[in-house]
Amino acid sequence: MDKFIIKGPVKLKGEVNISGSKNAALPILFSSLLIKEIIEIKNIPRLKDIDVVIKLFLNLGVKIKNGKSLIINTRNLYTNFNFPENLIKSIRASIWLISPLLVRFKKINISLPGGCSIGMRPIDLHIKYLKKLGANIYIKNNRIIASINKNFIGSHIIMKKNSVGATISIILAAIYAQNITIIDNAAKEPEIKDLIHFLKTMGANIKGEGTNQIIIKGVLKLKGGVYTIMDDRIETGTFLIAAAISKGYIICKNTNPQNLKIVLKKLKYTGADIKTGKNWCSINMNNKKPKAVNIITGPYPSFPTDMQPQFTLLNCIALGKSIIQETIFENRFLYIHELIKMGAKIFIKNNKVFCRGIKSLYSAKIKATDLRASISLVLAGCIAKGKTIVNNVNYIDRGYENIENKLISLGAKIKRLENK
Ligand code: EPZ
Repeated sequence: MDKFIIKGPVKLKGEVNISGSKNAALPILFSSLLIKEIIEIKNIPRLKDIDVVIKLFLNLGVKIKNGKSLIINTRNLYTNFNFPENLIKSIRASIWLISPLLVRFKKINISLPGGCSIGMRPIDLHIKYLKKLGANIYIKNNRIIASINKNFIGSHIIMKKNSVGATISIILAAIYAQNITIIDNAAKEPEIKDLIHFLKTMGANIKGEGTNQIIIKGVLKLKGGVYTIMDDRIETGTFLIAAAISKGYIICKNTNPQNLKIVLKKLKYTGADIKTGKNWCSINMNNKKPKAVNIITGPYPSFPTDMQPQFTLLNCIALGKSIIQETIFENRFLYIHELIKMGAKIFIKNNKVFCRGIKSLYSAKIKATDLRASISLVLAGCIAKGKTIVNNVNYIDRGYENIENKLISLGAKIKRLENK
């Protein structure tokens, strides 16, 4: 695994172009397996997770032109495909192979998906609702074995727990299903709206995106076309935090601040001067330290769990005390011990982190534990006094495109040491 050598403290300031959204690109790519005509997808972020999807697609016989945009042709797929287990296990998103491949091949046998170690990451809701739509699906020896007769059958699904992933699995299964599928208590994340906009662009019959009731009327086929992925709102939030913790001033371009309302509101509580436009937002700390803020994560439009580590870091150096409560994942505090090595005054009790802001962090040798934690530890290195070494930074490459160059352009002193 590579490591970063980071010198601090620095003030992070300047302009940054936000890349396409990882969590919109992944479901949109998997949904393209439902379409037999050529699709061109623009604003795809160049990330390790996307590279994994491309390798999975090549295993399936998908024709791909990987240039500025991604041109995909899934017309002729191999019938005897076999996915390398390490690929399937390297990302959580591989779970979204099930619905489209059941539509195409009526059966599938793949290993359980992977994903960041932020909790158990069960798939019981995916299984439960694909069964409700007519799949015969079960787990045996750490593999998912599934089949359907002719087609999925539309159904009225009332989701007992909010799940981004399971909502997506249901949508992909319902696109061509007989009859109508109604999903109550569906997840409302902007990335799901983007997936639905993509599918509707290609001819799907879906209503209710962004609300908690999605209605899908099965169609006979989807057509090809061109689609541009939305911006990555979590990348935007991450760069706003970079300015907030370093008394800096950053403008994020090519990003829609409407998807970050609660994050911008919380940043205003810290004393940040926030400005927004149609496709940009900026933060200016006017050389002040941030005030501590309390956070409770929850499903959209509540505070996003993917911004929890970044705000915990802010609270480590903020003025005052704070409590951060994580309600989505049961193990998303692994990075706290790394912040304590840097002098943070912080402790965990159940699903809450209690924090007392200190003047500044000091440098240390630390290790990244998952995607969003690792970027927060890199930012901690940027504001800590001295030279910080962050190990296991390949996690960052899963979700942040060109990260060290973007940070260097904002004033960071960061160098990657590749571990060949
Ligand atoms: C998606 O994960 C995102 N990943 C996560 O982003 C994000 O944090 C999460 O949604 C919540 O917004 C991708 O889109 C690839 P869930 P997902 O299903 O689909 C439980 C990042 O850093 N659950 O909404 O796995 C689950 O354990 C990543 O970009 C079940 O119990 O999230 C969790 O407690 C991290 N059974 C809660 O529901 C299931 O079958 C929410 O999970 C599925 C989920």
